[in-house]
Amino acid sequence: MNNRQIIVLLTYSGCQKNVPIAEHFFATTLMPPSFFSEHFYDKRHKFNIELLLCKMTQEYIQAKKTHLNFYQAVPLYYKNEGGKFVLYKPAGIKLRDMRIKRGLHPKRLFLKNSDKITSIREVQKAFNLKLKEDIKTNNPANVKNTIINIVEETFTEPRSGSLEGISATVKILVSDYAKESNIVKNLLFVSENDYTTVLHSVNVMALSIGYASHENYSLAEKKILGLSALLHDVGKAKIDADILKTPRRLTDEEFTQMQKHTTIGHQILKNCRFTNPQIMRTALQHHEKMDGSGYPNGSIRISRMAQIVAIIDCYEALTNDDRPYRSASEPLKALTIIKDDVEAGKFNKKIFEKFAYSLL
Ligand SMILES: [Fe+2]
Ligand SMILES: [Fe+2]
Repeated sequence: MNNRQIIVLLTYSGCQKNVPIAEHFFATTLMPPSFFSEHFYDKRHKFNIELLLCKMTQEYIQAKKTHLNFYQAVPLYYKNEGGKFVLYKPAGIKLRDMRIKRGLHPKRLFLKNSDKITSIREVQKAFNLKLKEDIKTNNPANVKNTIINIVEETFTEPRSGSLEGISATVKILVSDYAKESNIVKNLLFVSENDYTTVLHSVNVMALSIGYASHENYSLAEKKILGLSALLHDVGKAKIDADILKTPRRLTDEEFTQMQKHTTIGHQILKNCRFTNPQIMRTALQHHEKMDGSGYPNGSIRISRMAQIVAIIDCYEALTNDDRPYRSASEPLKALTIIKDDVEAGKFNKKIFEKFAYSLL
């Protein structure tokens, strides 16, 4: 359910309930109370937030078949003929591989929504181990696939508890993988069919780590830039999927919605336990321009990492995002387009030049 659907549901649902429930609701969805007061706290409407809360937080969610062997700390359930959820695997043990391979378990298994964050952490851990193995075999396709799996799983519930876990993935990449120069860039040559926010974010991260290696950043700096790049668009997880996927140009209203991914992403990351402020600043400022023509604030005081990610973000989108009204550009053409914006004073010239060299 996305924000727009929430607004519609709230607008059309019935009787009065109190603000604490609404606050709990927004704590669950990570929207600040101000978002609530701005959109919903209108005495002309009486909202049945409790009813909505029940609809929103389904108690059980289906577990992905490919992840069944990862779950140890979280219990799994099946649905009996009467529609009741029954414990199938208690916490603390894993499903046997043999049982999974032979399909000797109920077709659909579920986990409790309240276990979601723990389950994401288990999936992240398992995939991080796989990532180390994939790196050893030096197969970029496997490495990329594993990273996409990790990020995809994390972005299903991007909030405190799940997002921090992804920093281990970036650490593995910058310490185990990026040691050999240019190798992360190989990830970019592995093409995927479906261009999504996850794929875009992974590509922006790979290019950023390439930039950091070219600039001889320390390991710690590489990790921060890689994480900032990977999470720059995390706010899109809360934007209407129809807006994100539309194959046509956005209307003004849709574009206004889309722009909110910066402030929403900033808010999400603010609630996490990341200690480096660059990560949240990049989410907020990566669409700002040095001449003040960007969004969300039209600011000209833009953090350095946000300036780097802004250029790489643009380059990645130009070279990969193929839509009916706009075809993906060749790297040189993309650099020429960005150079025009550099000349117009929108992007940092020095960073642009360094980035262009890092691509060689
Ligand atoms: Fe963005
Ligand atoms: Fe982006």
